[in-house]
Amino acid sequence: MRELKIAPSILAADFTNLGAAVAEVADVVDMLHVDVMDGHFVPNLTIGMPVIKALRRITDLPFDCHLMTTNAIDYLPDLAEAGATHVTVHAEVYQNPAPVIARAADVGLTVGIAVNPVTPVEAIEPFAEDVAMLLVMSVEPGFGGQRFIETVLPKVETLRKLVDSRGLETDIEIDGGISPANTRRVWDAGANVLVAGSAVFAADDPVAAVAKMRAAIT
Ligand code: DX5
Ligand code: ZN
Repeated sequence: MRELKIAPSILAADFTNLGAAVAEVADVVDMLHVDVMDGHFVPNLTIGMPVIKALRRITDLPFDCHLMTTNAIDYLPDLAEAGATHVTVHAEVYQNPAPVIARAADVGLTVGIAVNPVTPVEAIEPFAEDVAMLLVMSVEPGFGGQRFIETVLPKVETLRKLVDSRGLETDIEIDGGISPANTRRVWDAGANVLVAGSAVFAADDPVAAVAKMRAAIT
């Protein structure tokens, strides 16, 4: 049975009160999604090691670090040291993720590989057995709070068929514009790890927002 995992993106949290924002949802989510942006791969800068390290002091949740960076491989040891547990790199940067997978294994990180909305799913299909997670972006990476791009769903369907037909446990994650309103659609397409930034942390009641997402698939 496929398990729904909710990964709230802290990018949408109140940074003046980050510890409290995370503590509020910690018991109802499966991991924290940490958007690391470098100003090169995407036109934005966000957060890195100091924030990951600080959050690790207050929670044991897995940290799903989404590396929107052109030199992700250089940071794997520091990320692991800071308390990351998983890193996802982009297929647009690493056409062959083998060196990333090897380096990550050395430092105890699991790996995912992501495709932007315009990148064909074929870019990550060959690695379904080698990684822990396949990420389909449903917005252009770089900013939170964007509108969900529905046309990426066939890529999720393709990956779900591939993973299930081979009996793999590889997670299929979707990221960007996810909310209780489209949870059912992305789950039915085959995603099981749902990233939600603004739908959780900008909600009046983040815990209720997560509950609504879980209820949407029952
Ligand atoms: C976009 C990031 C997303 C983003 C999601 O580049 O990768 O994780 O924070 O935020 P929402 O859910 O608000 O689209
Ligand atoms: Zn992300």
